[in-house]
Amino acid sequence: MSLVTLKEVLGSVKDNSYAIGAFNVSNMEMAMGAIKAAEEIQTPLIIQIAEGRLKYSPLDLLGPIMVAAGKKAHVPVAVHLDHGSTLETIHLALALGFTSVMFDGSKYPLDENIERTKEVKRMAESYGASVEAEIGRVGGAEGDYKSVDVMVTSVEEAVRFSEETGVDALAVAIGTAHGNYTQKPQLRIDRLKEIAEVVKCPLVLHGGTGLTEDDFHNCLHNGIKKINIATASYDSVASHIKQTVAVNPKANYFDISDAAVQGAYENIKKHMLIFNQKNRV
Ligand code: 13P
Repeated sequence: MSLVTLKEVLGSVKDNSYAIGAFNVSNMEMAMGAIKAAEEIQTPLIIQIAEGRLKYSPLDLLGPIMVAAGKKAHVPVAVHLDHGSTLETIHLALALGFTSVMFDGSKYPLDENIERTKEVKRMAESYGASVEAEIGRVGGAEGDYKSVDVMVTSVEEAVRFSEETGVDALAVAIGTAHGNYTQKPQLRIDRLKEIAEVVKCPLVLHGGTGLTEDDFHNCLHNGIKKINIATASYDSVASHIKQTVAVNPKANYFDISDAAVQGAYENIKKHMLIFNQKNRV
């Protein structure tokens, strides 16, 4: 099956009964686990890597693996750059065949975020790829960046931003944060509803790790179409590897490699089922 763009994947979501998970991967084993889960559940898949994680998994090495894994899958796969912050990295992802890139200009003033996002949109269009952007600010940090506080997205700014940039997906800040929560997040479902009523493009929820099943359902029933999960998959891979070694101290490299695939697969499948992604292809 061929690769698809983020716009195509999210455009295929016809109602508010489900959303599509976007799963961060950092190596071949995690990509294999994600594809195994998607083929079993029969759902379109989004795999992504954040610019902040490239120190561990250089894009010129991991990117071709993600693209090849996506092309080989028996379900539609979008290969996405998460939280792109530099034009160099965004350009490299597009040149490697990513079908979608996120430009995260949330640290800039609104006008500057709009101008920079428009530039990325022009670049992505020349590759036939989609663009996600962020308005307001999701809390925490995706990768080795400094943690930031949540700045809830304003309805007026979201409307202006989406109309002026023409982005294919818009990440909104409604109280979630990247990483494991140290206290229960206060989700602004009221704000999500207001934004979803007036913004035409699909909305994205970042910081999915640690939300409850009810939180996820509340978000997808009220307009979220893409839900990002990173930390929970990394934690699941790490704990499967630790458990493999604890049970069998003689575990070899290949046992550990299998544990990594299994750790990603189990966490991703669990979230796909929560997002009601079964039989969506
Ligand atoms: P978590 O690490 O909290 O799951 O967030 C994932 C994310 O939003 C990636 O951009």
